[in-house]
This record gives sequence, structure tokens and C-alpha cells, in this order.
Amino acid sequence: MNNKLTRRQWLRRGSAAAALAITPHSLPSLMGPPAPKAHNDTVNGFVRLSANENPYGPSKAAREAMLGAFDEACRYPYAGAGGDLAKLIAEKEGVTPEHIVIGCGSGEILRMAGVTYGLNGGEIVAADPAYLGLTRYAETFGAYTHKVPLDEYMVHDLDAMYERISPHVKLVFICNPNNPTGTSVDPAKLRDFATSASNKAVMFIDEAYIELMDDMAANTMTDLVKKDLNVIVSRTFSKIFGMAGQRIGYAITRPDIAKRIQEYRMGMPNVVGLRGAMASLNDTEFQAYSRKMIAEGRQYVYDLCDELGFSYTPSTTNFVFFHTGKPIQALQKAMQKENVLIGRPFPPYLDWCRISIGTRENMEAFGTALRKVMV
Ligand SMILES: Cc1ncc(COP(=O)(O)O)c(C=O)c1O
Repeated sequence: MNNKLTRRQWLRRGSAAAALAITPHSLPSLMGPPAPKAHNDTVNGFVRLSANENPYGPSKAAREAMLGAFDEACRYPYAGAGGDLAKLIAEKEGVTPEHIVIGCGSGEILRMAGVTYGLNGGEIVAADPAYLGLTRYAETFGAYTHKVPLDEYMVHDLDAMYERISPHVKLVFICNPNNPTGTSVDPAKLRDFATSASNKAVMFIDEAYIELMDDMAANTMTDLVKKDLNVIVSRTFSKIFGMAGQRIGYAITRPDIAKRIQEYRMGMPNVVGLRGAMASLNDTEFQAYSRKMIAEGRQYVYDLCDELGFSYTPSTTNFVFFHTGKPIQALQKAMQKENVLIGRPFPPYLDWCRISIGTRENMEAFGTALRKVMV
């Protein structure tokens, strides 16, 4: 973090960062967009900007693969599709298929790990606020979570988290980039932290939004898995790939950890979704398109915030966290009356709002509603 920036300047910095972020991905495809159409429709009459979905997916290639998978839908996924996706991911990541766990969304990966390490009084260290999928589930099995507030820049406070790792702590959860703040941790600092902390507890690094970063290779922590450290990295086909409804996610981790967490598997991913995920994984054209459209949507939110005088964090995800100064529950209700769904409250930032990036049309509906309710 550049110490010369004031917190306010830093919060507003997202605007410039996003403008730059668009540049490398701005080349329009000569073939037209690699997705047939964006999902502009309302859901039950609402513009849905509350769940960090990506309306630009699934890609053309994924749709074709899913249509072609209907015949195979009579087979259980372990008969072929599940193993085939694991092999493809392993090849891409330079690990063995035994390093890969496929889940019903990365949500299931988070829950498997939460139970594995949270049972029998296992303690967890997590930032607050961060995504709750792992810690909440583990807590229902008796786990205790040490919640460590984000720092003043709304970034994981790694030093404070390190201090909380007692011998009772079995897992440390890092959400990078973080949901709901959209912020990410400096990769060199995270690598150092994870290398030391993984001697004391399993490091779980949730990379649900990592493909949306400009430099995913520099930010992912999969190299630590390859060094055989106690590290689990989770990813998903729900975000950049726009396949949230298909429920496919995965973990990359040491084979012994992979085996252990799978003992708590609850379901099996569907064959059609698995084939769609396989067609998406190496579809770099669609990923660039998705990244570009989402960067444009973020810029729309930054511009709107600048117009309305709201600060916001620099986001590398498909959502933006911004400060309206209005209690979020009241804002949610007011926006709902305008048929727009926005993010839930994220204590302690109760006058901040998380908005997911939808289509241009969705974002304009959101902008019109926000201008109306904020007067
Ligand atoms: C940080 C993070 N991790 C994991 C998930 C779970 O996503 P999925 O189960 O669709 O892979 C989400 C969903 O929004 C998320 O924000």
C-alpha cells in the first residue's frame, strides 16, 4: 500500500485503476462476442444485482458442450465427466488429478473444508467481513471462528490474523479477492504469510474472483500447493465463466488433504455442468470478454459514485463496495421498491452497499433507482 495516499484518496482510486484495467482487454473480437447473449431479463420482476452473478455467461462454447452432454446425463459424474474435468484442471495447473477436488460450486469445497477442520472444537481464523460460506457452516458443527477486522483499507490484516493462530486453530481462511469489499492482498505479503502460517494450520485461500484480476498468475497461491504446503486453493465456474446455476467449483490441494476433505462431500456435480466447465476452462476469448464487460460495469459504478460523492474501494471483482452513508437495510428496501436487488448488510460497514455488476442495461436501471432514492 502506498503510504502517501490518504485513505480517502485510496478509496477513490478504483476509478483510475479500473480505467487502466480495461486497456489490455479492450480489443473487440472480430468474430463478435463469444457468448450468444447477456442475461438482461429481470428475475421475478427484479434486476438482480445482489449475488455476484455474471450475466455474460455461459459462453457459446459452454452452451454447445452442455447441449452435447444430454446423452451422457444418464451417467453418474464419476463415470467420466468429473474425472475428465479434474484431469483438465490438473493439466492446466501443472499438478496431478489427485490434487483436484470437484465440488457442487466452490461453496461445497468451502463446506467440506469447514467441517473437516472445524469439527471437534477446531478453531478457525478469518477476516471480518469476508465470505461466510466456510466459517458459518463449520460453526454449525461447533467450530469457533476468530474474526479479525479488516485493516483501514478494508484489506485482510495479515499481521493481526497471524497473532490469532493458536495451537487450537486448525484452519485460516483468506478470501482473495475479498467478498464483500472487492479488495485483494499484496501477493508477496500473502505468500510470506501463507508459507509461515501453513506450518501451524491449514491455509484455505478462496480465489473465487481471481480470474477477474488483471494478473491472475501473480496473485494466485497455487504455487504453494505445488510446494506441498498445507494449502487449499478454491476456484469456481460461477464468476468469470458465468455458470453459477450449474454449480461447479474445485479445489487444488495436496492429495492427502484432497482425500481428507472429500470424506465430507455431500453431493455430486451434474454431468451437463461438468462438460460446460470443461469447455470454459481454456476459453481465453470468453474470459477476456467477460473481464472487459465487467470492468466496464465497474467503471459505470465508479462514475456514478463520483457523481453522487460516494467513496468506494478499488475492486478486482464483479462487484463494487461503496459508501452511501445511508443504513443499508433502508437502502435495500428503497431499492427493492424500484425493483432492484442490492447486496445484504455487511457489518460493521452498515452504511455501505455491495452492488454486483450486471449488463449495461441492468446497471443503468440501478443508476436511475439509486439517484432517485438518494435524493
Ligand atoms: C468469495 C466467494 N467464495 C465462494 C463463493 C461460492 O460460489 P460458488 O458456490 O457458486 O462456487 C462465493 C459466491 O458468491 C464467493 O463470493
